[in-house]
Amino acid sequence: MNQIFSEVYREGRNIATKNKFKGNTVYGEKIISEKGNEFRFWNPERSKLAAAIQNGLRNWTLKKDHNVLYLGASSGTTPSHVADIANMVFAVEISKRMMRDLIQISEVRTNVIPILADASKPETYMDRILSVDFIYQDVAQPNQAEILNKNAEIFKPKFAMLAIKARSIDVTKNPSQIFKKEIGKLNNFEVIEIIKLYPYDKDHVLVNLGYNG
Ligand SMILES: C[S@@+](CC[C@H](N)C(=O)[O-])C[C@H]1O[C@@H](n2cnc3c(N)ncnc32)[C@H](O)[C@@H]1O
Repeated sequence: MNQIFSEVYREGRNIATKNKFKGNTVYGEKIISEKGNEFRFWNPERSKLAAAIQNGLRNWTLKKDHNVLYLGASSGTTPSHVADIANMVFAVEISKRMMRDLIQISEVRTNVIPILADASKPETYMDRILSVDFIYQDVAQPNQAEILNKNAEIFKPKFAMLAIKARSIDVTKNPSQIFKKEIGKLNNFEVIEIIKLYPYDKDHVLVNLGYNG
């Protein structure tokens, strides 16, 4: 395993995170052991962050000591890898069905804190979160820029990553126009880089952002 970013590893064409909870897998991912450590392969078909790394993301802003606010945690695939990398992951998810899976994951992966809430209402969960260094947002909602703005204003992260899904905003517009328009709506963010996720994901880009608010 070669380390390519803080807490992210590569072996051949695969990327992986070091398993913080040995023996535990989340979505049937392959595990390999090396020098007393266990590494979980990170599937770019299942995770936009892994797809962005495979597609050449250059500026890795997520650090080992970061507390992450994860908006749109779903059943916990990407959050579980983010939790291998970072200190704590506050995983916000609106769907009760997804929350059930997330709760199961958090019973083993104790640095994942599941929060059943609407990410567009951060005032409903702000009391449960101490500090946030990084926001990762993947909610596939038409008001995704507004959701990130609201959360950033309250939690004041240093960095963020936003997965923008063109089709969830306006199916009649050209995707690149939509990405530009959404990024233009962000307040106090600077764009570090924009990574297309094709062929792993046809409709999304991942926007790597710094926050100066
Ligand atoms: C594309 S999935 C996220 C996949 C996940 N990020 C991963 O890589 O493992 C989008 C998720 O956002 C959730 N979602 C949509 N709107 C939301 C909102 N307003 N607040 C919180 N979660 C929301 C959906 O229920 C869904 O589980």
